[in-house]
Amino acid sequence: MEFSIKALAPESARGCAVLGVFGAGAGRELTAPARRIDQKAKGAITRALHDLPAKTGATLLLRGLPGITAERVLLVSLGERAEFGEAAFRDAVRGAAGALKELGARDAALYLADVRVARRHLSWNVRHAVLGLREAFYRFDQMKTQKKAPAPTLENVVLPLSPGAELQAALKEAVATADGVDLARTLGNLPPNVCTPAYLAAEAQKLARQFKLGIEVLERRDMEKLGMGALLAVTRASHQPPKLIVLRYAGGARSRRPIVLVGKGITFDTGGISLKSAGEMDEMKFDMSGAGSVLGALRALAGMRAPVNAIGVIPTCENMPGGAATRPGDIVTTLSGQTVEILNTDAEGRLILCDALTYAARFNPEAVVDIATLTGACVIALGHVASGLWANEQKLADELRAAADDAWDRVWQMPLWEDYQEQLRSNFADFANIGGRPAGSVTAASFLARFTKKLRWAHLDIAGTAWKSGREKGSTGRPVPLLVRFAMRHAGRK
Ligand code: BES
Ligand code: MN
Ligand code: ZN
Repeated sequence: MEFSIKALAPESARGCAVLGVFGAGAGRELTAPARRIDQKAKGAITRALHDLPAKTGATLLLRGLPGITAERVLLVSLGERAEFGEAAFRDAVRGAAGALKELGARDAALYLADVRVARRHLSWNVRHAVLGLREAFYRFDQMKTQKKAPAPTLENVVLPLSPGAELQAALKEAVATADGVDLARTLGNLPPNVCTPAYLAAEAQKLARQFKLGIEVLERRDMEKLGMGALLAVTRASHQPPKLIVLRYAGGARSRRPIVLVGKGITFDTGGISLKSAGEMDEMKFDMSGAGSVLGALRALAGMRAPVNAIGVIPTCENMPGGAATRPGDIVTTLSGQTVEILNTDAEGRLILCDALTYAARFNPEAVVDIATLTGACVIALGHVASGLWANEQKLADELRAAADDAWDRVWQMPLWEDYQEQLRSNFADFANIGGRPAGSVTAASFLARFTKKLRWAHLDIAGTAWKSGREKGSTGRPVPLLVRFAMRHAGRK
C-alpha cells in the first residue's frame, strides 16, 4: 500500500474518491470535496444521501457518476459536526477502510484526510489515516494452507492535502509505525512452537542486518556469569534456551542518552508449577507481546531514521513446569543482589523483567520504559481500552500519557505509593514475588520499582490491550504507536 500526499481536485481523482458527510436526516452537510463532486455530477450525491446511514463510519458506494474521473465514490458518515473529534475521525477512517477492502479497490483518494480535528494538526490526520488503513488491511494467514480469497489490494492511496515538509514527515512516521505494528502483530500471532526465544533473537538479528542496528544476544551462560538468578529461575524447566536480546538504534546525537525499552518476552506462559487452568491457556502465546512491541518500535524508529537513540532490551524464555522447574518457596538472588522468595511461579514476568531492568542501567539511559503483559489484575482494572501506566517520575508519566493520547493508544496512570510495598513482605527473603489479590497490578509494578530506584522509569502493563480474545482473537500491535510517538515527541517532533 503506497501513500502519497498531493493537492488533487476531487473531480480528477482516480479509482475511488472517499468523501465525508456530516449530520443526519435533513441536517446533512457535505464536506467541501463532496460538495465539489456533487456540483460536477449534477446533484448525484445530494440525491443519494438518504441511503447513507447516519452512524459515524457508515458508508455508501456510488458508481459511474458523471463529470468526474473516479469510477467510484464512497460516502462516509462523519456524525454530527459539533461532535466531530478524534474518535469520529478514526471511526470514519475505519469505516472507509472496511468498505475499500470489500470493494477490492486498487486506487483511492481519501478526502477524509482534510477534515480538521479540533486542537490537532493535519499531521495527526495523516498519521491516523495511514494507521487506520494499514490496520484494516493487515492479514495473518501464513500458517493456513488454504489462503482465503487473494489478498485485497489497495495499491495507491492519495491523501489530498497540500504537500509540505511537516506532512511528509508525518507520512514517513506513519508508514514506519504501521510497519512496526505489523511486525509486533505477526510476532504475537505466531504460534508458541514457532515464536520461541531463539526465533525472537533471529528476528532481532534480521532487523539489525536490515537497518544496521547494533545487536548482542546474551545466552544462558552469560546470564549465569552475570548472576541473573531471577530470569534463570523462570527458564529452568524449558527446553528452549533463554535469550537476552539487546538491540541498539543510534539516530540521535552521540551526546544524547538513549531511551531504553524493556519488553517482556515470555513466548509461552503455562504458569510453571503454579500451573494455569486449561481454559484459554493458548492465549499465553501472546505473553511475548511486550518484546514484540519493542522490536516493532525499533523497526519503526530505524525505518524512518528517527533522530533518537533507542535501545531495546528483551529478556525472553518460556515458563514451563517440569522436574527442573522452580518451586513455590524457592529463593533466588537477582542481578541486583536482592533476594526474592518465589511464592507463585506464575508471577514470572516481573522475574525476567527485574534482571533486565537492572541490566538496562548500564546503558546510562535518559529513561527506561518496560512493556509487559504482566497481570490479569490490570485487565480487571482497565479492561481492553487503556494500558496501565506507572512511573517513578511524574514528568515521564506525563510525556507518556500525552504521547498515548496523540497516538490514540491510551494509558491510564496508576499509583506507585510506598504503602503497597508492604504487601510484598517475605519472612524468608528480601521480599516476595507476589502481593496477594488486592491491587495485583499495582503490587507487580511495586515489585519492579525496587529494581529501578536509580532510573527514570515507567512501566506499561499491556495485558488487556496487546491482544483481542474471542472471534477476533489476535494481536493488536499495541503499544507500538504509543512508543514511537513518545520517542518522536521526545525528539521534538510534534
Ligand atoms: N502473563 C500473565 C498475565 C496475564 C494473565 C495477562 C491473563 C493476560 C491475561 C502473568 O504472567 C501472570 O500469570 N500473572 C499472574 C500474577 C499472579 C500470579 C500474582 C496473574 O495475573 O494471575
Ligand atoms: Mn504468569
Ligand atoms: Zn506471564
